[in-house]
Amino acid sequence: MKLWQEIQYLWNDVLAFLEDLWDSFLLLPWDKFFWIGALCALIIWGIKRLKEKRAYRHMGFSQVVGLAEVKEQLYHEVLFPFYHAKDYKKFNLSLPNGVLLYGPPGCGKTFLVERLAEELGMNYTKLDHSELASPYIHETVEKIAKVFNWAGQHAPCLVFIDEIESLVPSRQDMSGSGSYKHEEINEFLLRLDNAGTKGILVIGATNHLDLIDQAVMRSGRFDLKIHIPAPDIESRTALFQFEVQKIPHEKDIDFLTLGEITEGYSCADISNIIKTAARMTVAHGLKKINQQILQVAISSTPSSLKKEGNDQPVISNPPPSSGNEGGDGDDLETALSNL
Ligand SMILES: Nc1ncnc2c1ncn2[C@@H]1O[C@H](COP(=O)(O)OP(=O)(O)O)[C@@H](O)[C@H]1O
Ligand SMILES: [Mg+2]
Repeated sequence: MKLWQEIQYLWNDVLAFLEDLWDSFLLLPWDKFFWIGALCALIIWGIKRLKEKRAYRHMGFSQVVGLAEVKEQLYHEVLFPFYHAKDYKKFNLSLPNGVLLYGPPGCGKTFLVERLAEELGMNYTKLDHSELASPYIHETVEKIAKVFNWAGQHAPCLVFIDEIESLVPSRQDMSGSGSYKHEEINEFLLRLDNAGTKGILVIGATNHLDLIDQAVMRSGRFDLKIHIPAPDIESRTALFQFEVQKIPHEKDIDFLTLGEITEGYSCADISNIIKTAARMTVAHGLKKINQQILQVAISSTPSSLKKEGNDQPVISNPPPSSGNEGGDGDDLETALSNL
C-alpha cells in the first residue's frame, strides 16, 4: 500500500513538472527565436554558397591554361546553345550534334572535355572503348545503345568518346573478318545522327584523325572539328606559372625561360616536369621549388612531341638550359649534386 502511494506521489510530481515545463515553453520569446533561426539559416546558406563558389573556382574552363581561341569557339558553338536550349527549341534550332577534338597526344583534349563538362554542369558519361569491346558479336552494339539510352534519359548529357578511332576505325583498312565492326560503326552513326535532338552532346577526341571512318566525318555528324595544337611558348609559360603557383615556390622563377626551353614538350610533359621537380625539392629537403630544380627536371624529361614528330616541328637541338650549371643534359645525379 505504501509503495502504491509512493508511486502516486511520484506520478503527481512528474505531471506537475511537465505542466511547469509546458508553461515555461509557452512563455519563451518565440518571435526572437524565429529571427535567430532565420539568421542561422541565412549564415549556413551563405557559407554553403561560398564553399560552392570556392570549389567552382577550381573547376571548369578556369583550369584550362591557354587555348583561348578553342575556349572561345566552344563557348559560342557549344556552351551558348546549351545554356539557351529553350530558346533554341523555340526557334526550331537543334543543339550541336557532335564535336571532334584532334591533335597531338598530351595536349589537353581529354582535360578540356572534362573541364567543359564541369563548366556546363550537365550529366556526363564516357564511352570507353576498352569497356565496350567484346568478343561477342552484338554485345558491343548493345553496349553503345545502352550508353546512348542512358544519356537520353539524363539529357542534357555529354557523351565523351576518348580515342574515338578505336571505336570507329576506318572501314577501308578493314578485312572481311572485321564485318562485325561495321555493325558497331553503323549503330554509333545512328545514335550520333539523333543525338542533338535528344539533348545529347557527343564529343570525340583523337590523336589520329586519319584513322577514323570517313562516314563519321560527313557533315551533320561531327560538325565542329577543333584542332588542339601543341602548346606554344605563351601556353607553356602560362602552364608553368599556373601549376608552380599551386605549390611552395621561390619568387624569382623565370617562367618565360621555362616556356622557351620547352619547345616540343606537351602539356602532359610539363605536368610531369613539375611533379619531378617537386619530388626533387622534397628529396633535397628544400622548402620551395626553384628555377634550377625545374631546369634539371626539364633536362631529364624527354619531349614526347619531338620524339613522335607530331604537329610540332621536329627540334634538332636539345633545349638549352640557361643558367643551369650542371643541368645541360648531364647526368641527373651530377646536376642535383650541384644544387
Ligand atoms: N590546357 C591545359 N591546361 C592545364 N593543364 C593541361 C592542359 N592541357 C593538358 N594539361 C595537363 O596535361 C595532362 C594531359 O592532357 P590530356 O588531356 O590527357 O591530353 P590528350 O587527351 O590530348 O592526350 C592533363 O591531365 C593536364 O594535367
Ligand atoms: Mg586523351
